[in-house]
Amino acid sequence: MQVSLICATTLCGRICPVPLGSALDRARLERARSNTKASLMGAGTLRDGNPEMLGPGRNFIPGRIRAIVTKSGKIPIEGKRLFEKGPPPLVFTGKEVAKGLQERLLHHTCEVIGISNYRTGELDLGEIMDVLDAKGADKVLVEGGGMLNHAAISQGVIDEILLTITPLVLGVKGVQSLADGTRPVGDPFVGFRLVSCRPQPTGEIFLRYIVSDSSKQYKSINPNLRVSPAVVQAPLA
Ligand SMILES: NC(=O)c1ccc[n+]([C@@H]2O[C@H](COP(=O)([O-])OP(=O)(O)OC[C@H]3O[C@@H](n4cnc5c(N)ncnc54)[C@H](OP(=O)(O)O)[C@@H]3O)[C@@H](O)[C@H]2O)c1
Repeated sequence: MQVSLICATTLCGRICPVPLGSALDRARLERARSNTKASLMGAGTLRDGNPEMLGPGRNFIPGRIRAIVTKSGKIPIEGKRLFEKGPPPLVFTGKEVAKGLQERLLHHTCEVIGISNYRTGELDLGEIMDVLDAKGADKVLVEGGGMLNHAAISQGVIDEILLTITPLVLGVKGVQSLADGTRPVGDPFVGFRLVSCRPQPTGEIFLRYIVSDSSKQYKSINPNLRVSPAVVQAPLA
């Protein structure tokens, strides 16, 4: 199982307002989707926008899973393309909320899946990865926003971060950043190693970081699917 987190930030580390990235960044996102078998997005991103998680050419990728995670179960449905077009999405929520949400979504094609709590009280993202893995998604793209990213990094499910730094400064205190939570993701940091750095003609930089081995906590139910470290390129000078 390989889990990648993808994110575009400003120079000041903010991830909003979207879209931040250029057409090149959009193409990078769509490529990352086509290289993975599922996308996982936080409910806040669904509430703030109208994501469809499309692949290259703004097309649906056949058989690819689109999933949302919500603890509260309070997700908007009407007018959200995720529920109106393309393959039925998965909605991960707490076990206590799943039944009511399933009833609310009765007339929409989607699957609601109840998940246990992690020790922090958030949903257990390792369990979500196990469900996705069992459904054939051995490569998963975590697409944010900041709260989901924080949970994913702090719960140790992330293998790599695909980061686009855009040549923009917003400078508004409190606006979401790459990882947003009330406590550090690690002790206090989670460390990553730079494996590629590609400046773009737009002034953006495409970065790829892999998590340091000691920070990876999630153990896939199918360990054979874990990506080999042999794919890692030499660090840049
Ligand atoms: N620049 C980028 O690359 C990028 C990418 C994606 C999103 N964004 C932006 O980021 C903003 C949203 O970020 P955000 O931090 O406010 O929200 P978010 O991370 O998208 O969603 C947060 C919500 O997701 C649910 N959630 C996340 N992790 C969970 C867990 N482990 N267990 C249970 N529930 C979990 C909770 O939903 P409930 O509240 O329903 O319980 C939580 O309130 C949007 O404006 C969006 O446009 C930017």
